[in-house]
Amino acid sequence: METVVSGIRPTGNLHLGNYLGALRNFVKMQNQQRCFFFIADYHSLTTHPTPKDLHGNVKNVLVEYLACGLDPEKATLYIQSDVPETAELYLILNMNAYVGELERCTSFKDKVRTQPNNINAGLLTYPTLMAADIILHKATKVPVGKDQEQHLEMTRTFAKRFNRMYNVEYFPEPVAYNFGEELLKVPGLDGSLKMSKSDNENSCIFLADTAESIRKKVMKAVTDAGPTQPNETKPQAVENLFSLLKLVSKPNVVQHFDALYNDCTIRYGDLKKQLAEDMAIFVAPITEKIHDLASNDEYLHRVAKLGAEKARESAAQTIKEIREIIGFKSF
Ligand code: TYM
Repeated sequence: METVVSGIRPTGNLHLGNYLGALRNFVKMQNQQRCFFFIADYHSLTTHPTPKDLHGNVKNVLVEYLACGLDPEKATLYIQSDVPETAELYLILNMNAYVGELERCTSFKDKVRTQPNNINAGLLTYPTLMAADIILHKATKVPVGKDQEQHLEMTRTFAKRFNRMYNVEYFPEPVAYNFGEELLKVPGLDGSLKMSKSDNENSCIFLADTAESIRKKVMKAVTDAGPTQPNETKPQAVENLFSLLKLVSKPNVVQHFDALYNDCTIRYGDLKKQLAEDMAIFVAPITEKIHDLASNDEYLHRVAKLGAEKARESAAQTIKEIREIIGFKSF
């Protein structure tokens, strides 16, 4: 049996990108493997949330994990900050993570560009914390979207470096995973290549959205004046709508609109109406469960407590072993 680890940052509500890129695979994998799925609340401190927002967002993600079908009896569901062993491994890995390689990381370079007023050390060492999350349980598979590929590469680098440095074969080299398929990048409704809340909330469909709010956002999605030549290449924003349609609609629906596009008779209003309807059908069962679970604080407390216990047991074992390997021994 393989060990699977993955997590999501609590920054609000989860969107379709999070679900299709990562969370739906968590749900599939929990039946077959030894799984740890956590809420990356240490990571979210890089954006300086208020305590109230942080707590509310952690609750949102926990509720949404459960609403999507994660089962706390099958997988270990935990909150990252409930497992302080994570922080110890992060510290240890940071001793062998070089500033140069961290500075070259694409996600760090993006932040330097987009938020020049808050380039903190946590952002620079984000990949080491992520590596700590993963190798803390000696994971081999990590279900994530395409945007996390480079972080996984760095995780393998840090794991190999530890093994080489101490001349052990202790940490496996984990890989990003999507059931034999390419890793996914779900596009936004605003023409952007990646659905992302930090870039534009209106580009996202959230799992907690009502049918009405989905319809409003989809109808406002970016398009163009329409094709003028048969079989024209689609501009990015239109290509995005087709990609989203492929993810939530039946293949014959996609073929139908594709044919209309190719003979220049497409009406984007019809395409959007169909997309909104299919997205609403797609998220409705999840949204319903979100509403049921959100008021059940006692159950959420039990889930988090059980997860913390199971995750700490696994983490404590790893920390004990690497302390020995490193030479932290008692006298
Ligand atoms: P985060 O919180 O930004 O996103 C959570 C997961 O959702 C995926 N995702 C997408 N997939 C496809 N298309 C999109 N538009 C899209 N947007 C988000 C992400 O790829 C990710 O899988 N660093 C991580 C959290 C993390 C983590 C870990 C993940 C911390 N430690 C250890 C795995 C293992 C992050 O910020 O993801």
